[in-house]
Amino acid sequence: MPEKLATLSFSDGTPSVDLPVFTGTVGPDVVDVRALYSKTGKFTYDPGFMSTASCRSSITYIDGDQGILQYRGYPIEQLAEHCSFLEVAYLILNGELPNKKQLQQFVGIIVHHTMVHEQLSRFYTGFRRDAHPMAVLCGVVGALSAFYHDSINIRDERSREISAFRLIAKLPTITAMTYKYSVGQPFMYPRNSLTYVENFLHMMFGVPCEEYKPNPVLARAMERILILHADHEQNASTSTVRLAGSTGANPFACISAGIASLWGPAHGGANEAVLKMLSEIDDVKNIPGFIKRVKDKDDQAMLMGFGHRVYKNYDPRAKIIQKTCHEVLEELDLKDDKLFKLAIALEKIALEDEYFTKRKLYPNVDFYSGIVYKALGIPVSMFTAIFALARTVGWIAQWKELISDTDQKIGRPRQLFEGATRRDFVPMASRK
Ligand code: SDX
Repeated sequence: MPEKLATLSFSDGTPSVDLPVFTGTVGPDVVDVRALYSKTGKFTYDPGFMSTASCRSSITYIDGDQGILQYRGYPIEQLAEHCSFLEVAYLILNGELPNKKQLQQFVGIIVHHTMVHEQLSRFYTGFRRDAHPMAVLCGVVGALSAFYHDSINIRDERSREISAFRLIAKLPTITAMTYKYSVGQPFMYPRNSLTYVENFLHMMFGVPCEEYKPNPVLARAMERILILHADHEQNASTSTVRLAGSTGANPFACISAGIASLWGPAHGGANEAVLKMLSEIDDVKNIPGFIKRVKDKDDQAMLMGFGHRVYKNYDPRAKIIQKTCHEVLEELDLKDDKLFKLAIALEKIALEDEYFTKRKLYPNVDFYSGIVYKALGIPVSMFTAIFALARTVGWIAQWKELISDTDQKIGRPRQLFEGATRRDFVPMASRK
């Protein structure tokens, strides 16, 4: 018998029911409604999951009112400051920070899975050169299940582990190949002497005829950005991965579904949309006119990179990225970058405007990340692909957690049906 119960009563004569209430280690309690339908014949209605916990999880904790984000209990600020991306990946996957030997082993495994099957490279030529990188990424990552048959038995723990290694190791290679294909340059093979992030930059910006030397300040900035994007509890793309995973689909297919879900401008696609918005605003003097459009209900304009379902305070990741943005622009002598100045001015105006303060709309992770990517020389269309690269760690950890969770069943929501009730077929000749 759980310690706490919630009593739900009805005004239509249905007898009231007691529902168990569960308490986590931190965060809001949850009311267990699983037996509601069998006890009352009623469903809950919660489109957008405004008040629904879809699973138990021990990976990431967010307090949206306080602006707190923790991976496995560690504050994001500390991880971004002190860790490498693979150290954080190990933490997210295994629950504990690695010791020196564990990290060396993990890095060694990832490094030795960075190449993709040579035949996979021929997949790219099936896409138009101007295909959006996210379209290519969905296709190529989904195709991994056609190449790595030996690790798709989801009931086997070792298979799950190997798939996780493969996905984390190969995503930078696949993402960089996507870019190289779009600009007509040869694919660069990974170099295992480099760090995960340096290797990604090498595969993006290196060419076979020249030695590529990653700038340490820029590599550190990229490392930090990947850490900030690595996981974010049950966001839309992670929930997509979990829903796909609940059917028993293989991990490569599930991550491909996650990539598709991330692409939308309300989610990971917002980093690309922010840059487009800033380019359209073009000048500080045009900000008031743009803000006016955002407030106009008949106008589709939105302040991209602002607002969040969970954060009703500053997204802690946005603060860190803003600082990283300063460092990168300083290093590249771009302190007077027009878009950065525009973003700072836009943020200031929005944070002082009642429309945004009343709705608790603050900058989110996507507001400044695009300016950093742009300064690093990454084209706008690649921004969301880099988000996907980083989030693959979180998706995989959440997928593994789902597979081992004895409470999990196939995801199958119900509906409030508002369509036509039963009626008889009307022959064509009799239809109006
Ligand atoms: C990510 O969930 C995650 O964890 C996601 C993420 C992750 O790491 O996985 O953090 C990554 O997806 C960040 C969010 C990126 N998206 C954007 O920057 C796009 C712009 N933001 C909005 O589309 C919106 O804020 C959402 C989608 C992020 C959140 O939407 P909600 O929680 O459903 O809120 P809502 O749409 O119901 O908005 C509430 C009110 C509305 O006004 P009213 O109808 O009450 O008058 O706020 C307004 C909205 O119109 N509003 C905005 C706004 N966001 C919300 N108005 C102007 N500009 C905005 N950006």
